[in-house]
Amino acid sequence: MSIGTTRTPQEYEVLTGGGAEAAELQRRGLSRRQVLRRAVGLTLLVASAEGTYGALTMLYPNLKGQFGSPIQLSPTDKYVAAKQADFVLDQRGVFYEPKAKSYIMHLAADPTFLLSGGVLQNFLDSENWVKDKDGSYWLSLYQVCVHLGCKVPFRDDCNSFKCPCHGSHYNIDGEYIDGPAPRSLDRFALIFQGGNVIVDTGKLNNHIGRPVASTRVLPLPFAGTPKEGVCAAQ
Ligand code: FES
Repeated sequence: MSIGTTRTPQEYEVLTGGGAEAAELQRRGLSRRQVLRRAVGLTLLVASAEGTYGALTMLYPNLKGQFGSPIQLSPTDKYVAAKQADFVLDQRGVFYEPKAKSYIMHLAADPTFLLSGGVLQNFLDSENWVKDKDGSYWLSLYQVCVHLGCKVPFRDDCNSFKCPCHGSHYNIDGEYIDGPAPRSLDRFALIFQGGNVIVDTGKLNNHIGRPVASTRVLPLPFAGTPKEGVCAAQ
């Protein structure tokens, strides 16, 4: 029997004894093969969307408040500023923050810089120095040695950072002094918010090279020129 496409599902059931579902398909002019194809297509679409979502979640996990994202640290007054020669770990000038895997450096106002004018300002800007309204300066230094990745401790007895693995040596602002490291320590972006220090561990500046005499920002922690063994291994 020929089945017209203009019949209602009810008419079709009466005429053919078939189900309403079949009648509806017929009314719409869809074959079972087409319906099957559409169902398979829809299933594949859903599976593909789920797969894409899963992959994106793995690639871009929600890091809010964790390493790899902005991390709120303590109120600014915890980080007591100090002159370069007076830094003592976790007491004044330099503070270790394990959550941010970084050292917060707070240099007291009017530091002795080796550069001046526009040249100094360019270095400060490009090297993530943050000037506070009281004239002091802040930095957030990533704890990882840029030689082969050991954690670099701050040594009070050296007034600088000295890597225990192969001896790379960095000034209090992370500037390279000596040793096998190819560049200065990397820095994170640092801002203030609601009276707290925020370190954005998703923004790493790893483009700070080895300074030479004419580009060094801070004086060395000892007299003379950089030389191996100034701060002996412990
Ligand atoms: S890993 Fe620090 S000097 Fe080699």
